[in-house]
Amino acid sequence: MVTVCCLLMAAIVSSFTSENKLLNLLLISKSLFHLTYSHMLGTFGRMGVYLSTPKTEKLSEDGENDKLKFGLSSMQGWRATMEDAHSALLDLDNDTAFFGVFDGHGGKVVAKFCAKYLHREVLNTEAYAAGDLGAAVHRAFFRMDEMMQGQRGWRELQALGDKINQFTGIIEGLIWSPKGSDSNDRHNDWAFEEGPHSDFTGPNCGSTACVALIRNRQLIVANAGDSRCVISRNGQAYSLSRDHKPELDAERERIQNAGGYIQMGRVNGTLNLSRAIGDMEFKQNKFLTPDKQILTSNPDINIVELCDDDDFLVLACDGIWDCMSNQQLVDFIHEHINTEERLSAVCERVLDRCLAPSTMGGEGCDNMTMILVQFKKPITPNKDEGGAEQSAGDTERSETHAAEENGS
Ligand SMILES: *[C@@H]1O[C@H](CO)[C@@H](O)[C@H](O)[C@H]1NC(C)=O
Ligand SMILES: *[C@@H]1O[C@H](CO)[C@@H](O)[C@H](O)[C@H]1NC(C)=O
Ligand SMILES: *[C@@H]1O[C@H](CO)[C@@H](O)[C@H](O)[C@H]1NC(C)=O
Ligand SMILES: *[C@@H]1O[C@H](CO)[C@@H](O)[C@H](O)[C@H]1NC(C)=O
Repeated sequence: MVTVCCLLMAAIVSSFTSENKLLNLLLISKSLFHLTYSHMLGTFGRMGVYLSTPKTEKLSEDGENDKLKFGLSSMQGWRATMEDAHSALLDLDNDTAFFGVFDGHGGKVVAKFCAKYLHREVLNTEAYAAGDLGAAVHRAFFRMDEMMQGQRGWRELQALGDKINQFTGIIEGLIWSPKGSDSNDRHNDWAFEEGPHSDFTGPNCGSTACVALIRNRQLIVANAGDSRCVISRNGQAYSLSRDHKPELDAERERIQNAGGYIQMGRVNGTLNLSRAIGDMEFKQNKFLTPDKQILTSNPDINIVELCDDDDFLVLACDGIWDCMSNQQLVDFIHEHINTEERLSAVCERVLDRCLAPSTMGGEGCDNMTMILVQFKKPITPNKDEGGAEQSAGDTERSETHAAEENGS
């Protein structure tokens, strides 16, 4: 190190005697940078400085009401910017809670869009007013793709993007939005906004969505993509969602019928999952309904009756499940849930645990989000208790009273 510094000093001195001072200075600062950088990698890399940096970049939140308690934590791995791509609403209405994780790919705007609008669309559906939460959330998933098209959709996505995008979005909003403002936020107006982007077919980036609604003893899980919802019942992990991977028979069949193909486990050789919100380039077959396209936002709906054996619920993106199995995560939470003061602290422990091996292998650098929801006992019975089940609407659903056995 000493010799290198001496050499550099000599170089600096000699550079001042030369004609092209500025160029030399630039060259020297560049080599200084490289030296510092590789030196840091050599020393601190082994010391694990990377592990402590992300610890400061978590976004955590806690909340509770008389029925539920939740904690969440979200982390962008090495990224400096923290993106909010989850929803946690204890009171979607006064007896319904809503939780969702959205894991973006190709960009984060679709995940942010879902975090902002999915729950609002659930509330807006006729099915919700009629008390059919499964049909309501099913409809809301498809609404996301519809809303992100056209002038208004384009503008909303701009608003969720970086500063330059936000600026152009605002300008076009001033020029083209019907009332020159967002004051009227009724979703039915969206389709009527005209402007230079009226033909916008929607974003070519996308997001997974895994959502849970809880109303008294009824739990509704809606999932599209490879984020996952897992419940702990008497300490046993049960998966309440199914990862949508291209290799699954039903997925492969839909992809091929829609004219797509699977290469190296990826849809058209690019996407490593078979359902997502957004990614509109895969949803352009005019002869097919949205649920039959190469990629679809069609969620699996799983309706579960909660019982007093249920401990907690976890929603998390694939970054977590890549490092822990369902049962490992449930065990880990049981180990820490009574010693940590906040549920978000339990989530942070999980994120740290999943991040730790990453400096070696390069895995786990993913952005990770996890929501932990604990049920307060006894779980409030449904108002119409007596086994009255909702009639299956037009939605495809699997009613599960004994939740499916944990797969992975
Ligand atoms: C929900 O809130 C409304 C008004 O705030 C109230 O009239 C109604 O009784 C509440 N419903 C429940 C189930 O608490
Ligand atoms: C997660 O990180 C990747 C890059 O590491 C980024 O492309 C993606 O948009 C991020 N997702 C979210 C939801 O922020
Ligand atoms: C996917 O592949 C099919 C078959 O080659 C092609 O027709 C389609 O345009 C592709 N779609 C995308 C978005 O790459
Ligand atoms: C796709 O994702 C799965 C797990 O989510 C992973 O095991 C697999 O390696 C991925 N495939 C590719 C080609 O990256």
